[in-house]
Amino acid sequence: MHLAGFELSGLINRRIDAGVGDEFFGRVKASDITDLGQQRGAGTGRIGVPLLQHGADWIGCDLSSEMMSKLRAKVPTARLAQTNAAQLPFVSDRFDVAITIHVLHLVGPWRAALREIKRVLKPGGVYLNSGIWHDDETAPSRRLRNYWRERIKAYGANWQRPGLQSQEELIAELRSLNATLETIEVARWRTPSTLREEIDSLASRQFSESWNIPDDVFNMTLDELRAWAAHEYGDLDQSFDEERRLIFEVIRF
Ligand SMILES: C[S@@+](CC[C@H](N)C(=O)[O-])C[C@H]1O[C@@H](n2cnc3c(N)ncnc32)[C@H](O)[C@@H]1O
Repeated sequence: MHLAGFELSGLINRRIDAGVGDEFFGRVKASDITDLGQQRGAGTGRIGVPLLQHGADWIGCDLSSEMMSKLRAKVPTARLAQTNAAQLPFVSDRFDVAITIHVLHLVGPWRAALREIKRVLKPGGVYLNSGIWHDDETAPSRRLRNYWRERIKAYGANWQRPGLQSQEELIAELRSLNATLETIEVARWRTPSTLREEIDSLASRQFSESWNIPDDVFNMTLDELRAWAAHEYGDLDQSFDEERRLIFEVIRF
């Protein structure tokens, strides 16, 4: 089996039909993805590395040379292209699969990126996008984040990503491109955490949604969040575990 693909921050040369999960990700053990999925901000490679280890013909693309050198350190022979998603350095009709995982929300010109992906995919090619890892709104980490968003809004500040804002926005754009979308679950696992770790990760500003929040609002609302969490849950160090799901949107242009 020959697979070739690029991931933005991959493309695959093989027609992948309904069994996309089995044919491509079926070769990657769920445990590979779950281990990798637990690395916060792991940079590129958590999907690319297992794919390469399972023999996929994969080209990684990323804007950031720093991210690419992290991947290169893990797989010295990996083929990488430093590129902006909105302007891909590939001829048209080249790949069978394009993959973007946790990327579109960072790409300002994400609509242009979708058009580029459509251009470099062969007719009948598949575009796999994923952003959803965790969708239980009643889970402690979601409740924390939702409360924090409300407080930030209450101060008139914006909780906004640099690129794609929502699933609805993506679906509307895909409709305008006459593309179809179906979803598949690739992996499901449970991950342990504590409220303190969750709050610390929000405080680290690793999430792009928080990059444009003014410092004073950021700090005030974090204090409010800590107080709210202590009131709601008591001990911030008690551990809980939450379900995570890796869901792919299978898009055909
Ligand atoms: C959250 S990481 C995800 C990396 C990988 N797909 C994964 O799931 O582990 C997002 C990556 O997108 C890259 N990125 C951000 N804007 C980009 C753009 N306009 N074009 C290409 N890559 C971009 C960042 O450098 C970063 O490495």
